[in-house]
Amino acid sequence: MNIFKLEEYLTKYEFSDKYLLCCSDAESFTMSEIIDMAAPEDKKLWGELALKYTEPYGHPLLRKQIAHLYSSLLDENILCFAGAEEGIFCALNALVDSSDHVIVLTPCYQSLLEIPRSKGAEVTEIELKEKNDWRVDLEAIRGAIKSNTTGIIINFPHNPTGQVVEEDELKALIAICEQGGIWLFSDEVYRLLGKPEQPWASPAACLYDKALSLGVMSKAFGMAGVRIGWIACKDKDVIHKMKLMKDYLSICNSAPAEILSMIALNNKDAILKRNNKIVADNLKLLDEFFIEYSHLFEWVRPQGGCVGFVKYKGAVSVETFCHLLVNKQHVLLMPASIYDYASNYFRIGFGRKNMPECLEQLKEFLHHEVISP
Ligand SMILES: Cc1ncc(COP(=O)(O)O)c(C=O)c1O
Repeated sequence: MNIFKLEEYLTKYEFSDKYLLCCSDAESFTMSEIIDMAAPEDKKLWGELALKYTEPYGHPLLRKQIAHLYSSLLDENILCFAGAEEGIFCALNALVDSSDHVIVLTPCYQSLLEIPRSKGAEVTEIELKEKNDWRVDLEAIRGAIKSNTTGIIINFPHNPTGQVVEEDELKALIAICEQGGIWLFSDEVYRLLGKPEQPWASPAACLYDKALSLGVMSKAFGMAGVRIGWIACKDKDVIHKMKLMKDYLSICNSAPAEILSMIALNNKDAILKRNNKIVADNLKLLDEFFIEYSHLFEWVRPQGGCVGFVKYKGAVSVETFCHLLVNKQHVLLMPASIYDYASNYFRIGFGRKNMPECLEQLKEFLHHEVISP
């Protein structure tokens, strides 16, 4: 398998540089903040928790709570994982074969593309385009279908552009899948973070028997360190197949992480309210910033999640720009090359409380460096 460029890049900078302006998660919570939110029965679960193996499919109460996020699903339709990443690995290893043709929307989080490739499948990339506001291109997908197309892989709200899929687009995509008996892997890890102009599209797994919806505590809930993710799917055979893969990886989830996730899900509204306010406040500042620096930057304003893809119009390459910025000012952005996307874009993140401070540092850098168009 090729190196996971994005994770390597973050490993290099995330824990040493001060101004992380490309993070893809919402502001995190401390242990005591989460424990303080716990209802008496959850406090009891926490205090009496035995640190033994947990149930391979996930704690029954946790699965039940996750199922509440999906109007037409039950706990038996949920399989928990160590983060979303393990879910991607298990699902795509369980579903993809070397004789398959799979369609992936790009640019994307690399494992969505890399794992089908590593299985020897034929992979067609459908590139999202800025001129279409990064929206899903249904005609391009329809045109790419072959007799051996078995799967389509999407991610909305999208990393890195922050574009969303609307309900009618998703239903039209599902109609394409239904025609060919194609499964749909829908990475929805940024769902519920941000405030799209239209109501959130339903999770794909609620609309289609052959859809898998990927969710996680890392992004909207700001709890990446608990490493709890899940896949929702109506097809219980698929759930079982993925569990057989999980048996070779984490086996089961971390016991404390399950309880912390349950507490957070019991306080979902308060947590999302806090994180969505941070995102909305940061977006306002970014709106002003992009007006002030329109000679240097341009973006399609993100609709969901907490990342956006910015076109850099300066004199040097975006690589050089990001490199100088992190080395001189300790401000981290993520150039498009990390997504194997050969254009002058970078990813910016706005889910964290210190984003205004990071933005000030970026301005400081722009005032001192001569990087005019
Ligand atoms: C689109 C997408 N899917 C999956 C993941 C993996 O999430 P986690 O780190 O919670 O496993 C990420 C992380 O950035 C992501 O952006």
